Amino acid sequence: MKQSRRHFLRSVSLLAAGTAVPLNAFAFGKKEKLKIVLVGTGIRGTSFWGRRLVDQYSDILEFVGLSDINPGRLEYARGYIGVKCPVFVDFDEMLSVTKPDLVIVTTKDSTHHEFIIKGLKAGCDVLTEKPLTIDEDKAQDIIDAEERYGKNLIVGFNYRWSPYVTKIKELLMQNSIGELRSVDFHWYLNTYHGASYFRRWHGLRQDSGTLWVHKATHHFDLLNWWIDSDPAEVFAFGDLEFYGENGSFRGDKCRTCPHKSECKFFWDITKSKRLMDLYVKNEKYDGYIRDSCLYRREINIYDKMSAQVKYENNVVLNYSLTTYSPYEGWRVAFNGTEGRIEAWLDIPYMSKMNVDQAEMHAREMEQTGKEVAEFEPVIVHKLWEDYKTVEVPIERSGHGGGDRRLQDKIFLHPDQKDPYDRAAGLRDGVMSILIGIAARKSIESGEPVQIAELTTMQPRKKRII
Ligand SMILES: NC(=O)c1ccc[n+]([C@@H]2O[C@H](COP(=O)([O-])OP(=O)(O)OC[C@H]3O[C@@H](n4cnc5c(N)ncnc54)[C@H](O)[C@@H]3O)[C@@H](O)[C@H]2O)c1
Repeated sequence: MKQSRRHFLRSVSLLAAGTAVPLNAFAFGKKEKLKIVLVGTGIRGTSFWGRRLVDQYSDILEFVGLSDINPGRLEYARGYIGVKCPVFVDFDEMLSVTKPDLVIVTTKDSTHHEFIIKGLKAGCDVLTEKPLTIDEDKAQDIIDAEERYGKNLIVGFNYRWSPYVTKIKELLMQNSIGELRSVDFHWYLNTYHGASYFRRWHGLRQDSGTLWVHKATHHFDLLNWWIDSDPAEVFAFGDLEFYGENGSFRGDKCRTCPHKSECKFFWDITKSKRLMDLYVKNEKYDGYIRDSCLYRREINIYDKMSAQVKYENNVVLNYSLTTYSPYEGWRVAFNGTEGRIEAWLDIPYMSKMNVDQAEMHAREMEQTGKEVAEFEPVIVHKLWEDYKTVEVPIERSGHGGGDRRLQDKIFLHPDQKDPYDRAAGLRDGVMSILIGIAARKSIESGEPVQIAELTTMQPRKKRII
């Protein structure tokens, strides 16, 4: 059953786990639609938090404003999302004119804090894309703002909602391998998806916080949730050895590059009408080049990352992230006092799948939810016993089916008790980025970094829900 605006506003407080703040909006919530504004009309904002909301939930919500620094992209976004609301280059003006209930933040990572804090201050609830923010000072400002202004924050951690990772959570909750002692987690980005981060703002640490934050926030959030404890200490290595200045040649952008024929990474953005309309036609406003050279010298993030994390409950995590793998996939293994769980997705040698890597990435980002039935195994291997295979039905589109489940939870059945506690709030957002921030600091200093020293949010042996 769909819900009213009043219902939604109450549900936001339930979803923003870790906060127990009453919502004043209850008092005046009638039957009217939830008033939403969105800042950051890029690919994620226009598709997942834009057009999809209009398609799926128009009977309970309405966009009352869109904002972006790029006026051309903003105008395109209004048409693409399919709304008639006003657009604003000035976010503050949008807040004061539209007086929304909910602010959705989908700008580049380094700017999230600004809109989160302004939204909370204006008396709105805020839903932000991951990562919460990119450094510990901005994280502290957000922590302080949520406390000061008494509104709620949801972090859009969609990965938790995919059926495959949920099954792993269920097996861990059932104590199927006894007490957890250590975890190995390795994520391999391929030369399509991994490379795409180096083509645009993600390649600059001042914009993305490096992939330790931009990408690994997903992984560390999953791990914190699976391990059910907060991180205590981080030691890491990392380097930039493949992209950036390591290339033997470089151009300005793919479209005009003199090395098109010899570059394995040549990517023709002109073949995509959507990307041309969204980015290329609007370059003149802000100089945002979507197909920049991934060998440009200004790139200052890592392309190989490895960390050890000790949790408050004494679980030890071995983590790695690779950005130029021939395939995209991941593996995880959990060692417990009574056995081991092994799981993986998209390792080509370990499954029946035979999907082209470019097509696979396109399917992951796709949002129609049209699926072919597929199953993937999770192995539960108890000590002294033969292993058992648990076959899990999986989805590929919308981040393993996580995208649509996250939105359905927020907008359709927020009151439904979730046995897996997949809703994520401020605390989850902070704890997941602090691992990546600590990893960066550890690489720079050569020393282990204590999570407790980064913000006032102190890690706990048992995660607070
Ligand atoms: N959860 C997921 O799986 C997932 C997937 C993709 C993207 N994301 C997140 O969504 C966010 C947007 O990513 P994207 O791929 O759409 O990027 P994008 O570059 O396509 O869009 C970013 C938009 O923000 C705008 N912007 C930048 N600075 C701004 C400012 N100061 N004020 C207003 N607007 C500003 C840009 O003009 C652009 O339109 C990122 O935080 C990213 O991490 C999450």
